[in-house]
Amino acid sequence: MNWRIKSLEDILANAEKKSLRRSLGAFQLIMMGVGAIIGTGIFVLTAEAAQKAGPGMMASFVIAGFVCAVAALCYAELASMVPVSGSAYTYSYAVLGEVIAWVVGWALILEYAVAASAVSVGWSNYFVGLVERSFGIDIPDAFTRGPFAGGIVNLPAATIALLVTALLVIGTRESAAVNAFLVIIKVAALTVFVFLALPVVNSANFEPFAPNGFWDSSGVGIAGAAASIFFAYVGFDAVSTAAEETKNPQRNIPLALIGSLAICTVFYLLVAGGVVGSVGAQPVVDTFGRAVSPGSEEFAALCALPTNAQALVCSGEPLAHVLDVIGWKKVSQLIGLAAFLALPSVILMMLFGQTRIFFVMARDGLLPFHEALSKVHPKFGTPYVVTIITGLAVTLFGAFFPVGILADISNSGTLFAFLSVSVGVMVLRVRDPGRHRPFVTPMVWLVGPLALLGCGFLFFSLPPKTQLTFFYWSLVGLVIYALYGYRNSPMARKSG
Ligand code: ALA
Repeated sequence: MNWRIKSLEDILANAEKKSLRRSLGAFQLIMMGVGAIIGTGIFVLTAEAAQKAGPGMMASFVIAGFVCAVAALCYAELASMVPVSGSAYTYSYAVLGEVIAWVVGWALILEYAVAASAVSVGWSNYFVGLVERSFGIDIPDAFTRGPFAGGIVNLPAATIALLVTALLVIGTRESAAVNAFLVIIKVAALTVFVFLALPVVNSANFEPFAPNGFWDSSGVGIAGAAASIFFAYVGFDAVSTAAEETKNPQRNIPLALIGSLAICTVFYLLVAGGVVGSVGAQPVVDTFGRAVSPGSEEFAALCALPTNAQALVCSGEPLAHVLDVIGWKKVSQLIGLAAFLALPSVILMMLFGQTRIFFVMARDGLLPFHEALSKVHPKFGTPYVVTIITGLAVTLFGAFFPVGILADISNSGTLFAFLSVSVGVMVLRVRDPGRHRPFVTPMVWLVGPLALLGCGFLFFSLPPKTQLTFFYWSLVGLVIYALYGYRNSPMARKSG
């Protein structure tokens, strides 16, 4: 079988021809990483993680953080060797060949586009909370939640997704200054949270620590929560997509990948400790005592009961909720305001990343209608067709699906991409041991397998429905590849 492996020399030469200005340094890159990482995961999904794992979600944060750390070490080696756009898709093309690259690129659509929808829904939660708490206006659930969460359509989520799409069409690229400002807001919000929540920690709130056990085939337990909360860490790989715009990428990309992840991990562990310890994080259960899945209609019904009105796991804006409950009402509004202001930039980055991935795939001739898709707007100079199509899909998903389900689907794609990166690093070590590696993954024969196993473990800890969605999605991708990409890629002409 011909795997159609694209040579690294070809990829690097191609990127050199169309190179962008190298203006980003290590500090800006770390800020970019932190800006892409901190978002709906910590601000919203903390409640979902608590529903799945109870106080044991603290262990879930550690597991997910560990898997991301070993995956980031693998990412860093490939990103330093192939400092071009397209991240996992490009690396796979160079190491594992075209068909795997296609499947990875196809999975990255889930990672970026579905993540953009998830963050839109998370933003909507904080928007609604802010409006209701600050102005006393009660917006009916029918218009602020999708059908699975007890409503009809999530209008705020759809609106923010459309607004961000419009910004991308007219060519808004978040400037480093705006990003730095938003990162400061997010970090300040989390710092204030930690300082207010940690002093009121009560050890009784940690008991029982793992009400749903460690692993369950339905996706609850500490492992299931780790697979979901993995979403909170996603985004550090966005740093690698800026490789072509980075000064000294061989040094700065790995530094930023690992640095931004480390900073966020410390914050997440402190925030999770504060959430659990201050107000408790026990799941709501059905009449049989079973923890129901967050994002299901049954869960929405349980949360509608007056007895669960104050339950952390039922809150769509858990960090604001915690501060509200422990008596910091005004500060809780400020936390809501911080999420309201800062989350749209995460949507912007995810959507932007998506258009970049599409662009590189189109440049490689793997996407049908790629000429139409890569049309550039005559006035704004942006790839508006692909941006609008992606934006509309993101809007629809945000309007109708709950945040947890979207985050899980996004995670399935990301985990697959990370998995291919960890395989890629090891394959390249064997196949091309002499090549210069500006960043060398330390203890690769330990770190690589750990990343591989860790991603596989988290993938299979996702709810079965999510795994199935991923398999169907990949199947559709493979059919498109067989019908189109296989014949039309430039590699097809090369290999005859
Ligand atoms: N890590 C990003 C978030 O939590 C995707 O919103």
